[in-house]
Amino acid sequence: MDDTTKVLLRAARGEAVPHTPVWFMRQAGRSLPEYRELRAGIGMLESCRRPDLVTEITLQPVRRHGVDAAILFSDIVVPLQAAGVDLDIVAGTGPVVAHPVRTMADVEAIRPLEPEAVEFVAEAVRGLQRELGQTALIGFAGAPFTLASYLVEGGPSKHHVLTKALMLGAPDVWHALCTRLADITRTFLRVQVDAGVDAIQLFDSWAGALSEADYRRSVLPHSASVLRSLPEVPRIHFGVGTAELLAAMSEAGADVVGVDWRTPLDVAAGRVPGKAVQGNLDPAVLFAPWEVVEQEARRVLAEGAKAPGHIFNLGHGVLPETDPDVLTRLVELIHTA
Ligand code: CP3
Repeated sequence: MDDTTKVLLRAARGEAVPHTPVWFMRQAGRSLPEYRELRAGIGMLESCRRPDLVTEITLQPVRRHGVDAAILFSDIVVPLQAAGVDLDIVAGTGPVVAHPVRTMADVEAIRPLEPEAVEFVAEAVRGLQRELGQTALIGFAGAPFTLASYLVEGGPSKHHVLTKALMLGAPDVWHALCTRLADITRTFLRVQVDAGVDAIQLFDSWAGALSEADYRRSVLPHSASVLRSLPEVPRIHFGVGTAELLAAMSEAGADVVGVDWRTPLDVAAGRVPGKAVQGNLDPAVLFAPWEVVEQEARRVLAEGAKAPGHIFNLGHGVLPETDPDVLTRLVELIHTA
């Protein structure tokens, strides 16, 4: 084994590791005061388009917590905007789409993503790799279903009613939409891989809203067409509430399956034989006394040890009110446990 291989990549491939690698979804931004200071007066999407800001915000949690991976500061809707979709990210709400996508004509108006339109991402990745040393850089994108949900609903949604109605009631429109979104996502991830990210994570955050049958029929083929196009780097595939979808999500082509806090990692490992797992401390546990955090983190480590590889993470993103010092202490614990 090459000694210089980054620890996160070894765990992703199921190789021996000197310590369990750890990073946190949504570690960039949110809970960090230095992030809020840097972002003051600058819109979210504007900050994603500025390589100097992307680089600095991506590095902030690495410096502070000593995590094993940086996640590129961006958002799942960045490639959609770069492809010409009229949308914004509203603080405290999330992505809001000016003209929701409901018909074949709406779908046909979605243009492909030209790689040059996200050159700012490539520039940030190249700059980051000069700074990161042994810390892995994770690129990411939203999966077709989760992106489609924002486009069809027009914004965040609890029950994804319009999305499911389109998926079930107009499968031709649905597949045409997901085909275009998969194409945009492939291009966005290809730009990141070509610029030098070490691994990628495909966020299908809201896939857990679906039954396994609907997931397999209407979503899996599109996510698979994204994941299969990137064989050179480890691929992490994550969603929330996906206990019943873990096997299907791993079949879509993942090397590592991300698991939320509802499913113990040893149970998850049994559902995705041969794959590494990522997760899965409940982000709310970080608000309990340290003794509880430590006990829960040790449980997650013990359960994760049942998989061929384990990347420690939360079961979903860092909550905005989280005390950053608890995250730092947690990284120390994972590295020395
Ligand atoms: O640290 C990191 O994880 C890197 C950056 C990152 C952001 N968004 C920055 C962001 C990543 C990986 C994402 C992914 C993302 N974006 C997902 C998948 C991950 C998940 O949490 O399930 C989803 C569903 C989105 C869509 C999105 N963007 C939402 C729902 C929101 C609002 C939620 C909120 O907490 O405000 C955003 C906005 C967003 N993306 C912010 C950040 C730092 C907040 C921006 C602001 O309002 O200033």
